[in-house]
Amino acid sequence: MILIDGKKAAAELRAELKQEVTELREKHNKVPGLTVILIGDLTPSQIYVRNKEKSANEVGLKSEVIKYPESVEEKTVLDKIKELNSDETVSGILVQLPLPKHINKQKVIETIDPSKDVDGFHPMNVGNLSSGYESSVPCTPLGCYLLIKKFEPNLNGKKAVVVGRSNLNGKPMTQLLLKENCTVTITHSKTKDLKAECLEADIIVAAVGIPELVRGDWVKKDAIVIDVGINKTDKGIVGDVHFDEVSKNAKAITPVPGGVGPMTIACLLKNTIDCFKRSQI
Ligand code: GUN
Repeated sequence: MILIDGKKAAAELRAELKQEVTELREKHNKVPGLTVILIGDLTPSQIYVRNKEKSANEVGLKSEVIKYPESVEEKTVLDKIKELNSDETVSGILVQLPLPKHINKQKVIETIDPSKDVDGFHPMNVGNLSSGYESSVPCTPLGCYLLIKKFEPNLNGKKAVVVGRSNLNGKPMTQLLLKENCTVTITHSKTKDLKAECLEADIIVAAVGIPELVRGDWVKKDAIVIDVGINKTDKGIVGDVHFDEVSKNAKAITPVPGGVGPMTIACLLKNTIDCFKRSQI
């Protein structure tokens, strides 16, 4: 079994991005800028945002975090997004989710200029991705995709099973695997025999948020298993894959933590740089 080291892959990607930012600074006399909007004081969101800011600074991006209290009015947030849309120093805008109940997530996402949508959540980017056109791609599935491609560059005809159908992970992951000529099965909580589906897979991407759902006897010997889950349990943080069991069977597996997580943030930086480059053409 091979451990797919997301921490190492993310460090390599960040080094490449840092070099790219240096070159962009020389060419354009400015650097890409990322603005994150954080509403409320949920601890996980605060941690994510702090890590995003730290990584953005490390690769040389201009980085800004705008914080609002939980009680902020929706209009204040939408007006700020519109202001950032027309700010030339801002290449990418990310509004950290989840949002307080009184703020309409869809409205927020649709207010972000699609060309600055580093999350790839805007319907324009979702549509472009599914049509095979250039688009921002959501950071977590993009990170999974890069890890899979690094391990197995040719995915032609491979059978992939995506567990989970969220807009954040499962659906965009499916599009990326389809582009690589995989035969993709999307499964979810209502799937009849999840074990049987997974047993067919050359590649499993688990993104359902159920602790250790994918067991050792669900996985073929030569399968690649990517675990997107981050679940808090009595045992600590575990993924959607039973690591101890599956690592005995699979050809390769991502650990939790240290697998997909670090790649997600590196991909956010990549998306910011890509938005900047497209805006300079
Ligand atoms: N909260 C958890 N993951 C994400 C993400 O990928 N993007 C945003 N905006 N919020 C999140």
